[in-house]
Amino acid sequence: MHIRDLRWGDLAAVLALNNENVPAVSPLDATALARLTTLASVPLVAEIDHVFAGFCLVLPPGADYASLNYGWFSAHAGALGYGTFAYLDRVAVAPRARRHGVGRAFYGHLVERLRGVAPVLFCEVNIRPRNDVSLAFHESVGFREVGQQDTDGGAKTVSLLALDLHWNEAFSSFAHRGYKCMLRMRIAANGELTVFPIGLTKFPFDRWKPPRNPPLKPHLIEPPLPLS
Ligand SMILES: CC(C)(COP(=O)(O)OP(=O)(O)OC[C@H]1O[C@@H](n2cnc3c(N)ncnc32)[C@H](O)[C@@H]1OP(=O)(O)O)[C@@H](O)C(=O)NCCC(=O)NCCS
Repeated sequence: MHIRDLRWGDLAAVLALNNENVPAVSPLDATALARLTTLASVPLVAEIDHVFAGFCLVLPPGADYASLNYGWFSAHAGALGYGTFAYLDRVAVAPRARRHGVGRAFYGHLVERLRGVAPVLFCEVNIRPRNDVSLAFHESVGFREVGQQDTDGGAKTVSLLALDLHWNEAFSSFAHRGYKCMLRMRIAANGELTVFPIGLTKFPFDRWKPPRNPPLKPHLIEPPLPLS
């Protein structure tokens, strides 16, 4: 899989995929899409075997964009404790490419691109009509709900989500606090060192011992490495 910046030549595929996914994303025509891509600070495309597999568009604050949800985040970012933000306007993955980590790869890429630019990434997901797949996806990436509002003249309700971008989470592949990787080392009595690469796909945040939310489920990323 390859994630790269969007090019003008991608717009037809982006437009088709976008409009196949209404109402999960709002509809666009070619003019609106072209304008949106010029407003975007990070417009990305995914390719698998050189074939278009999805896109996402991220906007900076202060864009001339008449979206109710963008307006909500612009109005509330300060009260939520953020001096600035990035806004994921839309993400869609081609049906044949879903559940292969493309969406997750977009977020990994965005976290890198937004390093030092924004402390938070905002987006929204429909809860009426309910987009269970996107809700599960955004929860798995680490987003949390910061509000809800009705849009489209009351026809839709969205959950307004935030992903804190923790630059100092050095062991996290996404730099977000829900995912941790670490090395543990054991030195045997004979001096032999073994390194254990351990991953946690869902880091628990409660203070129970042992943790319950969620239960601690470490896994070995690869077999232990004996070093003598
Ligand atoms: C939401 C969407 C972008 C996810 O993209 P994706 O590339 O399929 O997602 P990934 O493969 O990276 O999945 C990452 C995690 O999200 C969750 N997830 C993704 N699809 C899921 C599904 N159908 N059911 C439950 N959980 C799901 C899982 O936790 C998954 O991890 P796992 O596969 O290791 O279990 C894609 O389904 C899509 O384009 N949907 C239509 C458009 C849309 O709803 N866009 C979002 C608008 S807010």
